[in-house]
Amino acid sequence: MLRYAPGAERLSMGLRRQFKKLVRTRAQAKRTQVLTARVAAAARQPAPPPLAPVWPLPRRSERPEHEIRDAFARFPEWHYAFAFDGGLTFDARYRRPPHFPPERPFQRFAHFMPSLSAAAGGLAGKRILDIACNSGFWSLQCALLGAREVVGIDARPELIEQAKLVQRVAGIDQVSFRQLDFWEMTPEVLSGPFDIVLNLGLLYHLAKPLEALERTLRMTTSVVLLDTAIDPSPEPIVRLRWEEPTDIRNAAHAGIVMHPTRASIELMLRHLGVADVRELALRSLDMPPDYLDGRRASWIIRTRAQASAT
Ligand SMILES: C[S@@+](CC[C@H](N)C(=O)[O-])C[C@H]1O[C@@H](n2cnc3c(N)ncnc32)[C@H](O)[C@@H]1O
Repeated sequence: MLRYAPGAERLSMGLRRQFKKLVRTRAQAKRTQVLTARVAAAARQPAPPPLAPVWPLPRRSERPEHEIRDAFARFPEWHYAFAFDGGLTFDARYRRPPHFPPERPFQRFAHFMPSLSAAAGGLAGKRILDIACNSGFWSLQCALLGAREVVGIDARPELIEQAKLVQRVAGIDQVSFRQLDFWEMTPEVLSGPFDIVLNLGLLYHLAKPLEALERTLRMTTSVVLLDTAIDPSPEPIVRLRWEEPTDIRNAAHAGIVMHPTRASIELMLRHLGVADVRELALRSLDMPPDYLDGRRASWIIRTRAQASAT
């Protein structure tokens, strides 16, 4: 009879672990190869005209630096870092992981803002709504890139205070920030509709994705930029999770949130009668990991009226 000595058992377990690691490494290498080929193919397609963020932000406020620093320090958490002309900078501050690296917003900018601008015929002169504006990073960029008027809304009052603080330091007039829950947002409440609507980083913090997309579409006459975490399943399903409002990046209230899949987003948009939907292909590997590994994606959505008009 063959009997395992404890040493042989350890050896066998070690070999099994090594084998599993090898399989994982090979699968990862294959995924990287597929992704690299996909990105290279997308990068060969015609690119939208380049668009760069305005960074650092202007510093037009006369307030002394120590007062501005004190005002920023009053908030324990900042989702975005900010930099102003003259070397005045503030880091993002997270209470809990994930601690996003400072390049994340600029990678996201490069991913979707040039395509948005191209789809909308430029941002200059446009009226833009930034849903879930957080501390105003995207609203302020839109204003600096020429938008005629920007309205930023967020459910959290402290984030609206942050956005207004950044706006005051930068001295940007054509933006108004307002505390408003997504589910209270209507064209009447915000004197809409808008030319362009940004729905970035919000859908997966809400409980009713179909109604949320419908409400978002109602806010525009032409273009929506949708950016959301997605469940990587290929099925048209939504995955339920429980979310607590323990982080300024989370749902505003405790409850169920629904993570859609890519297929479910496209099916919901079809149900809503949207004629023109385009997922933005990754054109660079210099992107946050959640985009690279298929857990986040962005779409340019045009309403039926505009799609048939162009
Ligand atoms: C992940 S952050 C996204 C911030 C920014 N839009 C971006 O994409 O980087 C989610 C934001 O949604 C806001 N939010 C969560 N639930 C909301 C609701 N019901 N109504 C309005 N804003 C909400 C949060 O306060 C937070 O600012």
